[in-house]
Parts: sequence; structure tokens; C-alpha cells
Amino acid sequence: MDNSLYRLVYYSRNQIGDDGAAFSSNVDEILAKSQVNNLRDEITGALLFNAGCFAQVLEGPLERVEAAFERIQQDERHGEVSLLAVDPISHRYFPNWAMGFIGTSEAHAKRFADVGSSSGFDPSRLSGEQIHTLLRDLAIEEEAA
Ligand SMILES: Cc1cc2nc3c(=O)[nH]c(=O)nc-3n(C[C@H](O)[C@H](O)[C@H](O)COP(=O)(O)O)c2cc1C
Repeated sequence: MDNSLYRLVYYSRNQIGDDGAAFSSNVDEILAKSQVNNLRDEITGALLFNAGCFAQVLEGPLERVEAAFERIQQDERHGEVSLLAVDPISHRYFPNWAMGFIGTSEAHAKRFADVGSSSGFDPSRLSGEQIHTLLRDLAIEEEAA
């Protein structure tokens, strides 16, 4: 198997709704499953939720990242899954995160809104690179906190 590292970035529309209890139990379940699968598959990355959308970065061996993305695309908890980028990378940007969830704190929500407002609050107008950079900045802040 080709072990070189790739990074995949996508965004999608949340279809769980964002009312507190249902949303957080679904997110807990997604994260628990992701952490088990991604450890097995040598995938790392981060997942961001805000304003009705998910954005996710998955990094790892290409075949495994693609297999995970196939499963994720079929998940009915979100829709309109849009692939933004698949690129080779020289190293992992989220080495410690089997799947980190960010954007829940108010400060992070505000940061996402700031980026959102420059793109008209439309993540479809953010590039894979912008989403990757945002998630990475937030992950660094989270690790420092
Ligand atoms: C927004 C979102 C992000 C997800 N991220 C991952 C992930 O990083 N890794 C993963 O294995 N599953 C992820 N899932 C869950 C998959 O869609 C799917 O339910 C799961 O991979 C099935 O695993 P299983 O075949 O072991 O039951 C995600 C689902 C959603 C809705």
C-alpha cells in the first residue's frame, strides 16, 4: 500500500438540526465512532460544526482516507457533502487528534463567523485551504488552552 499522506477537506450541511440535546448526542456518537475507526485506519483530523454546516479535514494514507470519506458521504446525518480538496501532504497537521471536534466554544464560533462573513456565511465559498487553515488554527488554540 502507498503509505504517503494525503489530506481531504469537505464541508456539508447538518441534517440533525441544531437543537441542543439531539445535536450533542449525535455529535458524541459521531466522534466516538470516528475516534475508534480513525485510530484503526491511521487517520487524524478535525471536525468543525457551525451555522448548520460541518467542515472536516481527514489526513492519512490515501486509500483509508478515501474509504472513510465514502462512508461519511453516505451518512444521513448530513447532506450536500462537497469535496473541496484532496492533496498530498508532507506531514500530519493534526498528529494528536484521531478526530477533534472544534467550534463549540463561543470564541471559536465567533472566529468561524468572522471567516464566514468574509465569504457571505457560505462555506461553499471557502476553499479547502481556508478551511484547513481555520481548523488548524483552532486546534492549536485548543491544545494550548
Ligand atoms: C460529519 C460527520 C463526520 C464523520 N467523521 C467520521 C470519521 O472521521 N471517521 C469515521 O470512521 N466515521 C465518521 N463519520 C461516521 C460515518 O459516517 C459512519 O457512520 C461510520 O464511519 C461507520 O462506521 P462503521 O462502519 O464502523 O459502523 C462521520 C459522520 C458525520 C456525519
